[in-house]
Amino acid sequence: MIIDVVILAAGKGTRMVSDLPKPLHPLLGKPLINYVIDAAAPLSESPPVIVIGHGGEITKETLGDQLRYAVQDDLLGTGHAVQQAEKLLSGQSDLILVLYGDMPLVRTQTLENLVKTQESNSGPLTLLTLLEDNPRGFGRIGRDPAGMIRKIVEEVDATPEQLEIKELNAGMYCIKADWLWNSLRKLVPSSSGEYYLTDLVELAANEGHQVASVQIEDPDELIGVNTRIHLAETGQILRSRINREWMLAGVSILDPSTTYIDPEVTIGQDTVILPNTYLQKDTIIGKNCIIGPGTRIFSSQVGDGCEIEFSVVEESRIEDRVDIGPFSHLRKGAHLGPGVHIGNFGEIKDSYLGDGSKMGHFSYVGNARIGKDVNIGAGTITCNYDGENKHQTVIHDGVFIGSDSMLVAPVEIGENSSTGAGSVVTKDVPRDTVVVGVPARQIRKKDQK
Ligand code: UD1
Ligand code: CA
Repeated sequence: MIIDVVILAAGKGTRMVSDLPKPLHPLLGKPLINYVIDAAAPLSESPPVIVIGHGGEITKETLGDQLRYAVQDDLLGTGHAVQQAEKLLSGQSDLILVLYGDMPLVRTQTLENLVKTQESNSGPLTLLTLLEDNPRGFGRIGRDPAGMIRKIVEEVDATPEQLEIKELNAGMYCIKADWLWNSLRKLVPSSSGEYYLTDLVELAANEGHQVASVQIEDPDELIGVNTRIHLAETGQILRSRINREWMLAGVSILDPSTTYIDPEVTIGQDTVILPNTYLQKDTIIGKNCIIGPGTRIFSSQVGDGCEIEFSVVEESRIEDRVDIGPFSHLRKGAHLGPGVHIGNFGEIKDSYLGDGSKMGHFSYVGNARIGKDVNIGAGTITCNYDGENKHQTVIHDGVFIGSDSMLVAPVEIGENSSTGAGSVVTKDVPRDTVVVGVPARQIRKKDQK
């Protein structure tokens, strides 16, 4: 069976009240529509066809050209939207899985059930339904007295009696391809002038075909995002799904309701996540760490046995047994070797700190290469920017930087040297040397280690 996937995303998303097309609104850092694309990916060998319209160019640019696109210039309804994919797919596929791009919580397993049911259905179409008291504007499933599905009635067209029906159309379908392309041509516009995909159900039933259905168990899967309120609701459900998975995998999460873990993140066993913590993008956290409270880690790798408290870490690499915070900020390109200690109010950017080095109190380190067992005294600043260019600071192993030292880059401090408190170091310091003052000058040599 060749299965192709068509995802409808041409709608204007007016109710989002946004310049950003609805499919691109982020949910835990990932565009809404990517969840649908990812859920369907295991079911088809080929990339899905995304039907785009309004804002389509931005959507296409953002999602990239590994997907296929069909453009619906005029929004003439869901039936018309699917028709736009015909040129790309006709004659290629046996079954078409039609999904709506604004339902990010659907699971692969559910789509698999839908496809399997259609594979054994004599008729051309299987749809997903749910039983719910709150109809949420969904189409109602009309069955005949024998229980066969006859049609779908859209809420706007429903009689008071039909409005009472609790069986709803989820908006996901698996349809025989050749029957689909033929039948779409037979659709007639509804009262609103739209060509409803859902009218295919009545068409099939009138042709004497059996329309099959799969009833969904978890209604959460079908929450469609039409407003930013729905966006927040789906975000919350998604988060709790992800948090539960990590807890089952051996990660302690003290307060799941304030823990935000993006879908691509990985976390090692016996790590503890404390409240108000954000683990974002492709962050990797090792084993036996304590992360948080109040911490945001973005696109970073953290080794085993680290503790990071009330801090922000962006695009950085942290090796094993590092402790950071409270209130420190690692910016892009920070790399901390094993056992490094960063206390409070430290900022590190584009710099490496070697094994066991310590930077305990309010310091800025930028564009620096720092060796092992270096002590960075309170208030130390690498003056890396001269107003035009960034310059490098190199600090060799075993150096002691006194409190409030200014290291005016480019500058290099030799192994085992020290700077006195308040030094302004403007020239390279050789190894085993003590410098003090403004500008810093040598006062003595140290005993060589
Ligand atoms: C649709 C179904 C309804 C179902 C509900 C589930 C129809 C006619 N109705 O209603 O039975 O219960 O979904 O959520 O299908 N779209 C296009 N082009 C268009 C119109 C829509 O691409 O011309 C896309 C939208 O971007 C959206 C999807 O199709 O992703 C669904 O459209 P929407 O207008 O939201 O349909 P509903 O009224 O929710
Ligand atoms: Ca909708």
